[in-house]
Amino acid sequence: MTARLSGRTAVLIGGAVGIGRGIAQRLLEEGAQLIVGDVNDTAGFDLMRSLGLDQGQFLKVDVSSAADCKALADLAVSRFGKLDILVQNAGIYPVALIDEATVEHWDHVMAVNLRGAFVSTKACVPLMRANGWGRVVFTSSITGPRVVSHGLAAYAATKAGINGFIKVAALELATAGITVNGVEPGNILTEGLQSGRSTQFIQSMERSIPMGRLGTPRDIANAVCFLASDDAAYITGTTIVVDGGQTL
Ligand code: NAI
Repeated sequence: MTARLSGRTAVLIGGAVGIGRGIAQRLLEEGAQLIVGDVNDTAGFDLMRSLGLDQGQFLKVDVSSAADCKALADLAVSRFGKLDILVQNAGIYPVALIDEATVEHWDHVMAVNLRGAFVSTKACVPLMRANGWGRVVFTSSITGPRVVSHGLAAYAATKAGINGFIKVAALELATAGITVNGVEPGNILTEGLQSGRSTQFIQSMERSIPMGRLGTPRDIANAVCFLASDDAAYITGTTIVVDGGQTL
């Protein structure tokens, strides 16, 4: 396989575990120079060790903080001289019925999943503009844009919101050589998905998927790397559903 991202510098937010870890691996396989930001620094430094990367390629960041996102973008430039690709994958999906959810719950999910999209884009896009080439890829979800389930009102609102943000950002950046797209995962087996869910529940999820299995982080990473590459040069303002047929 040719390395499609050779010579590109990628910033990945939310890369320490789960889907993000799979994206980090695939970005490296595609030849990208990688900077990872995540709120979980223990897992982030562990990722650096397991991928054979320098600890200085990881920075502890909260994606909802504009200052943290700016520091991460600056790290890419100081380390590799430029920033070509932003993959914003950080996201949380705590479950709470509307009757029980607090305003704090709502605000926290909004801050991480939605403000994170805005502030990370604002931190990285000016650096891409400078080079006339850029890729922004978000991890959205089928939950919100296509399906819903109990307890995920805030989450669904953020992911539907990201899809709207993707379209406007794509429109505004189209003449700058920067594309903006997203991936909508179905049920992907990760630490986050498994937390608080029984084996029986996971098995019932598998049965609801036409392909008969949950997705893997690599399934999502493959779509992310495609959207980040020149193969997707004429694709902007859209999302790719990667769900094993779940929403059919
Ligand atoms: P996960 O919980 O396993 O990993 C999420 C990563 O984001 C972790 O490394 C975590 O430390 C990081 N993170 C959380 N809050 C952060 C913050 N404020 N700032 C920086 N980093 C932060 O989750 P998973 O399952 O890997 O999900 C990744 C993305 O994929 C999320 O955006 C999620 O909404 C989305 N997704 C996941 C699906 C699934 O089935 N696992 C389905 C659809 C979408």
